[in-house]
Amino acid sequence: MIQKHLFSTRTISKDFVEYIFSLTSSIEANPAEYRDKCKGKILATLFFEPSTRTRLSFESAMLRLGGQILGFTSAKDSSAVKGESIADTLRMINHYSDIAVIRHYIEGVGEIAKSFSSIPIISGGTGSQEHPTQGLLDLYTIKKEFKNIDNLSIGVMGDLLYGRTIPSLLFGLAKYENVKLYLISPPALRLRKNVILRLEEQGMTFNTEENLKDIISELDVLYMTRIQKERFPDPVDYERLKGVYQISLSDIINAKEHFILMHPLPRVDEIDYSIDKTKHSRYFEQALNGVWVRMALILYFLGLD
Ligand code: NCD
Repeated sequence: MIQKHLFSTRTISKDFVEYIFSLTSSIEANPAEYRDKCKGKILATLFFEPSTRTRLSFESAMLRLGGQILGFTSAKDSSAVKGESIADTLRMINHYSDIAVIRHYIEGVGEIAKSFSSIPIISGGTGSQEHPTQGLLDLYTIKKEFKNIDNLSIGVMGDLLYGRTIPSLLFGLAKYENVKLYLISPPALRLRKNVILRLEEQGMTFNTEENLKDIISELDVLYMTRIQKERFPDPVDYERLKGVYQISLSDIINAKEHFILMHPLPRVDEIDYSIDKTKHSRYFEQALNGVWVRMALILYFLGLD
């Protein structure tokens, strides 16, 4: 089970996922035991696109492991503005850190990392393609809640076209048995064909829906996403689709007792604040789980697990 970099949840094995989750559980149960594990190691965070949770939780993870951090938070703070290629940036980072997280809008950044980086590189989000560490922390949250992912009914709702957390979550879910999947979106924001084909290759089947009310009572989990304003080629389309799904207490009244509502955050107007304090909300817990999962990933990729 040797992974050098992490750019997709599609190409990793279920054994790898389960191994990371068991390491994550040990860390979560006893974080103090891990506080010196990365002493003398440096994590670089190379963020060419905005981030709050992903960058800060990676940095928090490394600091909690006793390591150090460096990096930049936007393309304009890096030599990208001078025209430097990502390949050259990555070659430099090999000299400055032991492991790096990169968030970039170029979809082939994983291939560039494979060719030019001698240190492990983890994607912190790649364009609208994937967000593998978010996918893993989402799966971990579901597993923690239900003990098992097999046989669950899971709805993903919102911007399935541009939201990068969605393919990563779905490729992860495809590794489990008999997951009943509902894809809920307006026709214009359905999953990309290549994502559907890849999921079908992994044996996944889905139900395509437009209205939550038709299926809310079936669901164990609903994963909401933000309409990704910054990815729309035509702002007119965004204006037409924004606000298409806004859920409040009345929309989940027929949900199962144990139903949970997830969201990678940031939310705009998709989830009414009144849901935050109900027993169904899990989005802030997801953000915390992200720290534990990222600690496990850093340890694994540095060979310190
Ligand atoms: C997501 C992202 O950046 O893709 N945020 C995150 O990392 N938690 C989701 C989003 O921006 O909508």
